[in-house]
Amino acid sequence: MLHGIQDLDRDPVAKQSSVLDQVPIIDISELLVDSAAPAAKTAVDSIAEACSSWGFFQITNHGIPDELIDEVWRQTRAFFALPIATKLEVLRTRDNPWGFYHNELTKNQRDKKEVFDYTTDGVDPIYESENRWPDVTTPFKVTLSDYRDAVTKLGLSLLEAFCVGLDLPADFMRADFENDHTGFIRLNYYPVKEPLAQSNIENMPVADLGVHHHTDAGALTVLMQDDVGGLQVFKDGFWHDIPPVPDAFVINTGDMMQVWSNDIYQAAIHRVLAMEQKDRYSIPFFFNPSAATEVSPLPTVVTDERPAQYRTINWSDFRGKRTDGDYADYGPEVQIAQYRI
Ligand code: OGA
Ligand code: NI
Repeated sequence: MLHGIQDLDRDPVAKQSSVLDQVPIIDISELLVDSAAPAAKTAVDSIAEACSSWGFFQITNHGIPDELIDEVWRQTRAFFALPIATKLEVLRTRDNPWGFYHNELTKNQRDKKEVFDYTTDGVDPIYESENRWPDVTTPFKVTLSDYRDAVTKLGLSLLEAFCVGLDLPADFMRADFENDHTGFIRLNYYPVKEPLAQSNIENMPVADLGVHHHTDAGALTVLMQDDVGGLQVFKDGFWHDIPPVPDAFVINTGDMMQVWSNDIYQAAIHRVLAMEQKDRYSIPFFFNPSAATEVSPLPTVVTDERPAQYRTINWSDFRGKRTDGDYADYGPEVQIAQYRI
């Protein structure tokens, strides 16, 4: 069911005529050394500029070892290649969103994909539930846990750049993310074949995109994509491809970063095309603050000329509502626009 949303997915795709029409590629090696040092300034400034113009950029020299990345891809492919009955043993439920799912909705439209979601160890504070690991294996759990820890560290460095770019101390947001963040990782599989082919769901809506257009709900997303392509960002009335770049990660800002920055950084609208020739895999890490975080525009971006544009948002509440909408059609999806002053 559609809830009167504007159908952006019908808007045109831009011709890749100029490098200015592509999201920037930023070398972050100096940022990883010391985000507040003069040597990191080029990276910090480029990130701030990319966040306000595109809400998207790619990073190189991210510091995550190749061997770990190779193993993550191997385990991801092996998981989705399991028989459907095995994957259904770790099927997500409404109460516990961790595990496998192949019937996800974005804005109440079905996506042509399969996913596996996992978070930090132990009981998570929003859903009060634990990861579901398939019975297959230790390497799957160990590799994915190592990757989660590596990408969390990278996320903390990127947050420092976001803060410095808003004239805040580099560690301004650290306390909301370091120890009890609610970030999670999603293994995405976009098959050419229909993912629900073997299921007996009635009145199945068509899945004409891999992921329908959306913004990510949290602070920032760190995404690894394979070499197939299909991810697009919406800007100035056109869809722009985000081409795979070897050894690069794609970064985008989420809704909470748009609120914190008082609209200086954009939570960009993006989508993934449905695969027609080749299966695609991608692995986003959604870096989200701790459950109790109250998100509102930060002190340096609220001035007399530009007052706060949003009321305070309780993260746990916002995230819970968004997850419900992804699981099934429980009404219109929650948006930050509803909190606009
Ligand atoms: C998402 C998403 C992009 C991709 O899962 O939220 O936007 O390239 N994925 O898979
Ligand atoms: Ni997304």
